[in-house]
Amino acid sequence: MTAIFAHRGFSAIAPENTMAAFRAAETAGADGIELDVQLTRDGRLAVIHDEKLNRTTNGQGYVKDWDWKDLSRLEAKYKFTEADQDIGIPLLEDVFEWMRENEIICNVELKNNEFAYEGMEEKVIRLIRQFNYEGRVILSSFNHYSLTYVYRLAPDLETAALYSSHLYMPWKYAEAIRAGAIHPNIRTVKSEIIRSSVENGIHIRPYTVNKEKHIRWLIEEGCTGLITDDPKAALAIRDQV
Ligand code: G3P
Ligand code: CA
Repeated sequence: MTAIFAHRGFSAIAPENTMAAFRAAETAGADGIELDVQLTRDGRLAVIHDEKLNRTTNGQGYVKDWDWKDLSRLEAKYKFTEADQDIGIPLLEDVFEWMRENEIICNVELKNNEFAYEGMEEKVIRLIRQFNYEGRVILSSFNHYSLTYVYRLAPDLETAALYSSHLYMPWKYAEAIRAGAIHPNIRTVKSEIIRSSVENGIHIRPYTVNKEKHIRWLIEEGCTGLITDDPKAALAIRDQV
C-alpha cells in the first residue's frame, strides 16, 4: 500500500514544520511526516525548511547565525495568522519525543545542500539511536555525498536520494550510492521508474504530489509512498483505489 507522507506536516492547513502541522497529519491518519532540518550556531537541529528565517518566522537572517535560545522565542506561524501565538520552531528532538505517542514514520530531510553543516549527520544519527527509531526514520537529502556519509556511519538506516530533474536509471543510481530509496520530484516520474525501482527493492516516494490525478496514478502503479501537502485528500483517494 502506498504510504502517505505529510510534506512539512499537514502544511495545507497548518504552519509548515511546526508541531501543529505534525499533529494535524497524525490526526488525519497520515502514515508519515516529512520535515526539514537546519543547524543552529550552537549546533542544535532546528526543524525549518529555509536556510533563512525570513519567510516562515518573525526573525531575520540565517538559522546558522542564531543560537537556539534566541531562535526558540520566534513565532513560526507566518501566513497562518489565525494560528496560536505560541507556534514556534521545533527541535528534531521535540518531534521525536512526540513520536513516542504514536506510530508515525518520519522522513528527516537534511537541508545540507546550501551549507555543509559539519556534524549534522552525526547529530541526527545519535538522536535516532537515542530514541531507537532505526525503523521509523528515513534520512533524505539533495546532498548525495551526505547520504553516502550517513551510510558509512550507519548502514542500517534508510537513506533516500532527493532529486528534481531527470536522472538516468535512478534505481541503479540509488544502488550505487547505497541509498534504500529515491525521492524524485513528481515531474520526473514515469511508470517505468516506479516499476523498476520497486522490482529492484528501491523504495520510491515522489514529492510534492498534490494533484488528484498524480496521487491516483502513483497508488495504482504501486509506488512505495508519496509526499503531499494534504494527506487527508490523499488518504481519501487511496481509500477509493
Ligand atoms: O522531501 C521532499 C521535498 O520536501 C523536497 O523539497 O523544497 O519541499 O524541501 P522541499
Ligand atoms: Ca523537504
